Amino acid sequence: MKEWIAPSILSADFARLGQEVDDVLAAGADIIHFDVMDNHYVPNLTIGPMVCKALRNHGVTAPIDVHLMVKPVDALIPQFAEAGASIISFHPEASEHVDRTLQLIRDHGCQAGLVLNPATPLSYLDFVMDKLDLILLMSVNPGFGGQAFIPSTLEKVRQVRQRIDQQQRPIRLEVDGGIKIDNIAEVAKAGADTFVAGSAIFNNDDYHAVISEMRKALQS
Ligand code: DX5
Ligand code: ZN
Repeated sequence: MKEWIAPSILSADFARLGQEVDDVLAAGADIIHFDVMDNHYVPNLTIGPMVCKALRNHGVTAPIDVHLMVKPVDALIPQFAEAGASIISFHPEASEHVDRTLQLIRDHGCQAGLVLNPATPLSYLDFVMDKLDLILLMSVNPGFGGQAFIPSTLEKVRQVRQRIDQQQRPIRLEVDGGIKIDNIAEVAKAGADTFVAGSAIFNNDDYHAVISEMRKALQS
C-alpha cells in the first residue's frame, strides 16, 4: 500500500486555512487530516463540517481524513459526508453502538475508521474488522498538537499490522501524534502506512522540505 503523509491542519494557521491546505498539498502531502474536537470528549474545541465544506468550495480535491474526537458521534456523520469528507474515523468509547456508527459512515458513502487511544485495548476491533477501511492508532492522548510520541504505540502498531494482514481486504493503518522526521521510519517499520503530522510540518517554514525528508526516511 502506498505510504501516505497526512498533515494535521490542527497546527495550520486557521486565518489562512485554504492557502495552508493548498501549500501542504503542493509540498507533497497525500491527504488532509482534519481534527474535530468538541470540548467534551476531549478538552479542546476546533472545527466542524462548515470548515470542511469551505475547503471543498475552495477547490481542495485531495482526500479529507476526518478524525472525530466528539461524543456523541452519529449526528455529525451525515453532516461531514455532505461537507465532502472522504474518510470518517471515531473513537469507539464515544459511540453507544460502534457497529451502527460504522455502518452509518459507509451508508453515507465515506470510508470508515476506528481510533484507539494509547490505553484503549485492541479488543474494540473484534467483530468489526469487515467494516473498517482504516484503523487510527493514537500515539498521544487526543486533544492537542505538539505532544511527544508515546513509545508503547510501536508494539500496538505491530499487533494491529498482524490483524490487518489476516484480513482479505486492505485496511489502512494510520498513526497520529508526535510523528517527526526522526521517528517516522520506526513507525513505518512497525507496520503503519499512513502518518499524521501536525506540528512537525506546520511549525516549519518549508513544508516541502519536511515532507521530502519524511519520504526519504520512509524509503530508508
Ligand atoms: C491530536 C490530534 C492530532 C494532532 C497531531 O489530538 O488528533 O492529529 O494534530 O499533532 P502533532 O503531529 O503535532 O502531534
Ligand atoms: Zn488527529
